[in-house]
Amino acid sequence: MQVKRIAGALGAEIKGVDLGQILTPEISIVIRDLLNEHEVLFFRQQAIEPAQQRDLAAIFGPLQTHPAYGTVAGIPEVMILESTVDKPSKIEVWHSDMTFRQHPPSVTVLRGMVIPNVGGDTLFASMTSAYDALSEGMKVYLEGLVAVHDFAQGFRESLAEPGGRERLGAALEENPPVRHPVVQVHPETGKKVLFVNALFTTHIEGLPPLESSALLDFLCQHAALPEHTCRFQWTPDSVVLWDNRSTQHKPVNDFLPAPRCLHRVVSEGDQPY
Ligand SMILES: [Fe+2]
Repeated sequence: MQVKRIAGALGAEIKGVDLGQILTPEISIVIRDLLNEHEVLFFRQQAIEPAQQRDLAAIFGPLQTHPAYGTVAGIPEVMILESTVDKPSKIEVWHSDMTFRQHPPSVTVLRGMVIPNVGGDTLFASMTSAYDALSEGMKVYLEGLVAVHDFAQGFRESLAEPGGRERLGAALEENPPVRHPVVQVHPETGKKVLFVNALFTTHIEGLPPLESSALLDFLCQHAALPEHTCRFQWTPDSVVLWDNRSTQHKPVNDFLPAPRCLHRVVSEGDQPY
């Protein structure tokens, strides 16, 4: 197995592993350790089936489904993320996946199905690196603060579409706003990470509205500084694994009119603390 780091803050390209093989406990431990070290792992030329992608994600814990995305027939854990001229992706901003859940995903596994010739890269940012780079005074200020994350904010464009309320009504009811600490301790590495994002975090509890929005703006801009990030250029059959607790990502929507399709599986994490 060859491991090539691709940026200072996070990200490594892994060669010499066939993710379609039976994942033995030994290989699972190696992948988990690599993920804890590099936070996002890139594998190329992995023509795995949806069931194999599901099984890969399952080494990190029980799998979660999503209320708003279509899924592969017979395998509801594999979500289809499609972007076309008629239905362009509405996700533009930096985020961690599904932080509107009480137990947000620990790990996301994304596989490239239809990849444009040019564009459609994904940016990743290390929330470990972002936290470490804050001033000591800011770290003290953030300690103990709690932020609110809300499905309704992340999917407000879909909800505003004709029929959106009807389509997503059940999802709205099942996903009321949740509270997560602004600074979390990663359950496996013990490192502190920043845990707010521009997609789902609505406000920080107990702060005046202007202070809350200014602080969130600052933290989100700070987290996306290039020094905390890496960039992945997709090729067909690429598979990317990221730690959803310690990273954020942003799709670069510069590929239309070419279509793009990705398959995603997420494993459930613990209650953040
Ligand atoms: Fe995402």
